[in-house]
Amino acid sequence: MNLFIVGGGAREHTIAWKLAQSPRTGNIFVAPGNAGTGQIAENIPVEASDIEGLMQAIAERDVQLVVVGPEIPLSKGLVDRLMKKGMAVFGPTGSAARIEASKAFSKDFMSRHRIPSASSRTFSDYNEAKGYIESSAFPLVIKADGLSQGKGVIIAAKMEEAVSALDSIMLQKKFGDAGNSVIIEEFLSGRELSAFTFTDSHFVSPLVTACDYKRIHDGNLGPNTGGMGSYSPPEFYTPVMGNQIYNTIMYPVIQNMRKENRPYKGVLYGGLMLTHDGPKVLEFNARFGDPETQVILPRLENDLLDVMLAITSDSLKQVHLEWSNKSCVGVVMASGGYPGKYQTGYPISGLDDVDHDIMVFHAGTKLNSQGKVVTDGGRVLTVVATGNSIEEARSRVYDNIGRISFKDCYYRKDIALVSQT
Ligand code: AMP
Ligand code: GLY
Repeated sequence: MNLFIVGGGAREHTIAWKLAQSPRTGNIFVAPGNAGTGQIAENIPVEASDIEGLMQAIAERDVQLVVVGPEIPLSKGLVDRLMKKGMAVFGPTGSAARIEASKAFSKDFMSRHRIPSASSRTFSDYNEAKGYIESSAFPLVIKADGLSQGKGVIIAAKMEEAVSALDSIMLQKKFGDAGNSVIIEEFLSGRELSAFTFTDSHFVSPLVTACDYKRIHDGNLGPNTGGMGSYSPPEFYTPVMGNQIYNTIMYPVIQNMRKENRPYKGVLYGGLMLTHDGPKVLEFNARFGDPETQVILPRLENDLLDVMLAITSDSLKQVHLEWSNKSCVGVVMASGGYPGKYQTGYPISGLDDVDHDIMVFHAGTKLNSQGKVVTDGGRVLTVVATGNSIEEARSRVYDNIGRISFKDCYYRKDIALVSQT
């Protein structure tokens, strides 16, 4: 069976790596892919946002399953287009992916169905939003409604910061049309947890969870990034907590999406805050997380192709998902300067010097004209190890990561340092 994966990050390299282990997998195509996916699949030079280009690239090939990694093609309805052609696709339709693509939709949906989340108001009028800020207590969280690559969320400690966030979203349109509406919400404190469930829109699988480190610097300092590292399972996660998240959040979301004629298929990612009043939703994503995927798929004991095909054929109930008890830690190597300006094109050395069981998932990498692997983005690699404990996995990653290098490379030293998190 030939597979076509849309995306080019370490998440998609991990998905390709896991799918390549299935005995039923034939050829794998990845668009646009990276130097890592190029070693196990054929890269197709079409961007994940180019829906027409993807439709054509898929139609030109003998493909039995399409897997959509990133949010942009999901929100643009790539899955709907492919399903209309009778293709099997892993990922939600555009109307189901709205749970990620519009925070206003997502908040309304949660309030309609009493899914616990921060209390909030949505505004499409600048003056009304400003008036609301002026009458609010701080800190306050300001969010652009639409997709903004994780950068459209500002936690404002004071009124001036909140107003300047509002100005940049609604007046200067820093995130384009994503800022036509804003959500102003209560600040929640607690520990953050990423929870994932697979679903065929009826059956909702038990959760798998991970922790993600969003800030660039050690100690969770500095600006937000796409994610600098992750580990799974979190040491503070308990079955009781899992049941509560499943029963009050993930299960009712999937059932109510179906009742609202937005049947959701694929993987649902809940970004949660564990508050004193129980778990609450910060946001939903309609896809796998990055860098969480790099630490959850190595723990999946099932054949991922079986899981994906069961979802496309509405038979997930028959699949018993199994996750190994091992701990998995992933550390992202980034280009110096990221998430601000950075240079690319630097050769990466040491990729073959890591221990045989260390996984190196590529993101911003490509082959240069001499066939050497060079940097090609902000987040460059995720280096992943498993172990019998978080500490063991963590020390294996850090023992190995120093063997890989490129000019100005940067990584956090405190990923999965449990005593500090
Ligand atoms: P989001 O993209 O909505 O997950 O937000 C990005 C990050 O902002 C989250 O991972 C949290 O660290 C933080 N955040 C979002 N909403 C809130 C909130 N209501 N209270 C506290 N922190 C939040
Ligand atoms: N780990 C954050 C995200 O995938 O959006």
